[in-house]
Amino acid sequence: MSRFAGKVAVVTGAAQGIGAATALRLAEEGAAVAVVDLTAERAAATVEAITAKGGTARAYGCDVADYGAVEAVFATVAEEMGGLHILVNNAGITRDNLFFKMPKADWDAVLTVNLTSAYNCSHVAQKYMVAQKYGKIVSLSSRSALGNRGQANYAAAKAGIQGLTATLAIELGPYNINVNAVAPGYIATAMTAATAERVGASAEDHQALAAERTPLRRVGQPEEVAAVVVFLAGEDASYVSGQTLYVNGGAR
Ligand SMILES: NC(=O)c1ccc[n+]([C@@H]2O[C@H](COP(=O)([O-])OP(=O)(O)OC[C@H]3O[C@@H](n4cnc5c(N)ncnc54)[C@H](O)[C@@H]3O)[C@@H](O)[C@H]2O)c1
Repeated sequence: MSRFAGKVAVVTGAAQGIGAATALRLAEEGAAVAVVDLTAERAAATVEAITAKGGTARAYGCDVADYGAVEAVFATVAEEMGGLHILVNNAGITRDNLFFKMPKADWDAVLTVNLTSAYNCSHVAQKYMVAQKYGKIVSLSSRSALGNRGQANYAAAKAGIQGLTATLAIELGPYNINVNAVAPGYIATAMTAATAERVGASAEDHQALAAERTPLRRVGQPEEVAAVVVFLAGEDASYVSGQTLYVNGGAR
């Protein structure tokens, strides 16, 4: 299948987890993928996995919280890979704490990496997309946007992603740019494993507890989020814009 033939996709935070699964899936379906993470070394394993399967990918080191770095790296991507058609704002971090104990630095870090980075990357990418009158932006929100104990910073950032998405869809729609978000529930990745460790549980026990609370009675896998991101980045979703799609096993 090559529904993304001729398209260049940038996936941020693609060294592991949901970003890596998304990069792999986009490449499997014909996109040339810029695998962006904090360092090119971190991104190398995803590039190897893609090229081992016959796909096209390159690793780029970029702190997406740094506007100047994003500008420079996206220019290099466009030059080396032949454009910029799809942007997946996936890079994210957590610094969980009850609000009364939450240091300002942890508020700032989570807002910057999860929300301001989406401003940075979308703002730089839209210049290429508007010029070519084609673009797809998909950002990672979270079920936590609806509220989650210990995650005031993360919930605020992920709710911000939904507002940013709805507004960019209005402003960029006239240029044939679709802007959507995906809001996963509990997905088994290093991020949720770190949360388990923080609360003193094993990854397995923590997942079992989350599974019990989920109608589908299991946690999600990165590939199940990647499939929805790729749907929103493709022409099957050509008339979908401004939406946040929950991928959370049926939890309300
Ligand atoms: N895992 C879940 O249950 C879950 C649920 C809802 C939403 N999400 C969101 O999905 C996205 C991916 O989550 P994941 O579980 O795969 O996380 P992860 O921690 O496994 O991977 C995140 C990646 O982002 C990279 N990254 C962090 N800061 C960066 C920066 N400043 N610049 C560039 N790269 C940076 C990390 O190096 C890492 O490779 C995140 O936005 C996360 O908030 C995850």
